[in-house]
Amino acid sequence: MPDLVLQFPVHTLSQEVLLSEGTVLSEDCLRKLARSAGRKEDREISFLGYGSIRRDIASYMRQDVYRHIFGERDENRNILGLMEQIRTPRAVLDILRYFRGNDPYTYRHILIVSALTCLFVTGLSDDVRRSFPEISAGPLHDLGKVSVPLDLLRAGKPLRRSERAYLEHHTLAGFALLAYFLRDAKKFSCLVARDHHERGDGSGYPRGIRLEDRMLEIVVVCDVYDALISSRPYRKRSFDNRTAIEELTTMAEQGKIGWEVVRFLVSRNRKARPSMEECEVSREKRGIPPEGNLYGVVLDDDDPEDIPTGPGGRDEIRL
Ligand SMILES: [Fe+2]
Ligand SMILES: [Fe+2]
Repeated sequence: MPDLVLQFPVHTLSQEVLLSEGTVLSEDCLRKLARSAGRKEDREISFLGYGSIRRDIASYMRQDVYRHIFGERDENRNILGLMEQIRTPRAVLDILRYFRGNDPYTYRHILIVSALTCLFVTGLSDDVRRSFPEISAGPLHDLGKVSVPLDLLRAGKPLRRSERAYLEHHTLAGFALLAYFLRDAKKFSCLVARDHHERGDGSGYPRGIRLEDRMLEIVVVCDVYDALISSRPYRKRSFDNRTAIEELTTMAEQGKIGWEVVRFLVSRNRKARPSMEECEVSREKRGIPPEGNLYGVVLDDDDPEDIPTGPGGRDEIRL
């Protein structure tokens, strides 16, 4: 596998450039980066105990779009109890606070994906203790967006090719930032940040590898599901729940994600909460994607601003 090369710089919240554009992410570079973090970067604190994170997650779980998924009160308490054990360096949580103030879509998305990941891991794993790295990785998957200009994150118009590349940079930026803050590029959270846009058929980015890790797939499905059903700056309406599940079913049919995680999502959407084994996933497609979704509409860099745009790609989702 060739080394990855950064197309854009990676910087911390204080605008300190950790790695400049053109850096080759070799093993040696990552080792040096992991060793270079100062002592103050080390201090791990409770994820839920930071600022208003606990309250914010609990309120997002109760929102209409998620009430059917997170249903029962006891179970919610159980999920929050597990998340209570997540500890992460303060510098990482400071980045979440930055999103809360500057890009509330990303902030909410990161928090709810972390709760969803926790729910899915506990539902799909016999040994939650062994799966704890996966639970801890949820809150960090999009951390690299701190290295992407805010006007691109908040864009309500089609992106140009170079802007789109900058947005995709969040995967490698997150990987490098977490290698630095967690002092080890091999931690599961780093791999999640790098690979959560890869797909089982090799159609994702940044490497276009075939995604095979089952636990990583959990984060991928939670990430896509939330991107579909929640509001986003680049479309007026979100996908309704039925259409969102059909989109994920289509992705499983195309080999982009595995069926097991989709089946779990479908079982959470049924009132009777059937077990995974009893849960049949319908292949029927009756949902209607929202009109005017600008995701997937990419302008060439020399196209004029006011180029007319179509309804946008159905199966590409800006996450
Ligand atoms: Fe992402
Ligand atoms: Fe995401």
